[in-house]
Amino acid sequence: MLRRQFIQSSSLALAAAAPAADDDAAWLKIREEQFSLPDWRAYLNTGSVGAAPNRVVKATNDYLAQGASYATDQYPRWGYEPMDAHRTALAKFLGTTKEELALTHNATESMSLIANGLDLKPGDEVLITDQEHPSGRGCWLLKQARTGIKIREAKIPIPPDSADQIAEALLSQIRPETRVISFSGITTHTGLLFPIQKICAAARAKGVITVVDGAHLAGQIPFRIDDFGCDVFAGSLHKWMLTPPGCGVLYVNKNFQSKLWPTIVVDGWQNSKDAVKYMQLGCNNRAELEGTLEALRFIEELGPQRIYDRIHNLAQYAYTRAKQVPYLKVLSSSDPALYGGMVAFEVDRPDYAPLWTKLAQRKVWTLRGPKIRISSHIHTRRSDIDLFFDTLKEVFG
Ligand SMILES: Cc1ncc(COP(=O)(O)O)c(C=O)c1O
Repeated sequence: MLRRQFIQSSSLALAAAAPAADDDAAWLKIREEQFSLPDWRAYLNTGSVGAAPNRVVKATNDYLAQGASYATDQYPRWGYEPMDAHRTALAKFLGTTKEELALTHNATESMSLIANGLDLKPGDEVLITDQEHPSGRGCWLLKQARTGIKIREAKIPIPPDSADQIAEALLSQIRPETRVISFSGITTHTGLLFPIQKICAAARAKGVITVVDGAHLAGQIPFRIDDFGCDVFAGSLHKWMLTPPGCGVLYVNKNFQSKLWPTIVVDGWQNSKDAVKYMQLGCNNRAELEGTLEALRFIEELGPQRIYDRIHNLAQYAYTRAKQVPYLKVLSSSDPALYGGMVAFEVDRPDYAPLWTKLAQRKVWTLRGPKIRISSHIHTRRSDIDLFFDTLKEVFG
């Protein structure tokens, strides 16, 4: 009871405090009060995994501790139960219905459940893009090895000029043998936002199954799955929604559930009337889902649009700074509507190692690789982005 009162009062304070996108001082206060990120950490890699707010960690830990002390057979689990309350809350936030939403551990698992669960025959083609994450490629490569399907990759222009250009690059590759189109809503290395609705509408009109890898969507941009018009959607919640690690979703359109087999089941799956049949995974860590509900409350109190406005403001700042560096090839589009909270670029230098060393010394963390990606979330300070670019300048001039 006391805990609930505490959460309610801190929630009200948070709602009243949701600041404007450029109010750096107010967002800094939220970082200091709500996160345990130390002052010396510039964390610019939410795109890999998010930093959970303190109250999310607390809700998760409390539930775990309570379970350890109860230790009865009645201790609630997930993996067998339908988790109606959790699915209802998440479905509302994600713009769909509980009946179409299954809880999973991450987008990787959801993508594999999709690829594995489809009946495809040798020669059927799956069209993906050259921008897919290993999780969005590997699942189809496995299917290819087992069943002899074909995989084709559409080349997406980087940086793209417009949403129409992206849609055209993908849709123009559909052939008579194309059965599935599988693409990222927001791409992993380039942070590019695809025109999901347009692609799905055109593909479905041709009878092609539409698969959206939405690993980066929940919490980064406001959206409704139902508006996408896709058959299936794979999501991770532990990136931009700031849940504990190991929380994801699988959306399966109600009209498509008869065409997607479940992969991991317990007896009784035959009787499942809805997406529950895709989440019968055996005993799982329920505490993570309590943390997820707390993360959902946190995001809703601040407001998904306010959060987007802030992280997009910071991403535009990162884009502007990147454009000022002559030896950077910026991979994000000059149209800010084509990215949310992630900006990416390549450095025209043969050896990145001195940069990684210096960034590690300064405790700056980005996605590393030939493509460098900066993710901004609400705990990101403008000075974190400055520190990255100042370090780059120090190393490469
Ligand atoms: C587009 C995309 N799909 C899938 C994944 C896999 O996410 P997870 O590790 O949460 O399963 C990622 C991770 O960054 C991604 O960027």
